[in-house]
Amino acid sequence: MKKLIIIFVIAIFAWSLNSCDSAKADKDAAAVTAPSKDSLIKRGNYLVVTLGCNDCHSPKKMGPQGPYIDSARILSGFPSNAPIPVAGAGDIKKGLVVFAGDLTATIGPWGTSFSANITSDGTGIGSWKEDQFKNALRHGKYKGLDSERSLLPPMPWQDLTNLTDADIEAIFNYLQSTKPVNNVVPAFRPAGRS
Ligand code: HEC
Repeated sequence: MKKLIIIFVIAIFAWSLNSCDSAKADKDAAAVTAPSKDSLIKRGNYLVVTLGCNDCHSPKKMGPQGPYIDSARILSGFPSNAPIPVAGAGDIKKGLVVFAGDLTATIGPWGTSFSANITSDGTGIGSWKEDQFKNALRHGKYKGLDSERSLLPPMPWQDLTNLTDADIEAIFNYLQSTKPVNNVVPAFRPAGRS
């Protein structure tokens, strides 16, 4: 009996040592796997550039080789002081979709949509929560709010629904680290309004 009790005590002791070890191991693993802010921002920058967010969200200047990003206004959307683009008579009826020269505004059968300011400014996504951003990319919700309308073309949110939480977190952290550009993008104009 005494022998049994001793074995039992040793077993409990060994188990508690082991569970301490595994708690410590879990903590160590978390410390190793949690990405630093810097690495999140770096990966977010890589994703934003590679996924082509600048194509529509950054105003451009025109050069001999075509449009190039205006680095002072990167990711700030359709410039509020730019003339609102107008399609030629009958263009949309003919099935055409018309882009502003720098791709920050688009006219189609849905109306005229303006690329959003997604810089860290208050007129961009500076005051957004990460969940809001996830809702915009995953479910195509304007301002990332369930109560808002769906995002319009050509925002390719349907292509972005497979981004992992980690990717979205990285993109969000990068955008929150961008230079704030104050620019209030005009509201969407439904078709038929000139
Ligand atoms: C082909 C053009 C295009 C590309 C590429 C694009 N967007 Fe957009 N995006 C738009 C347009 C246009 C809107 C505004 C749509 C609207 O008003 O409904 C928009 C809206 C958004 C919004 C919602 C802003 C708000 O105020 O609700 C977010 C967030 C966003 N884009 C992020 C991104 C990110 C991140 C990428 C790259 C992964 C990206 N977009 C790529 C055109 C584009």
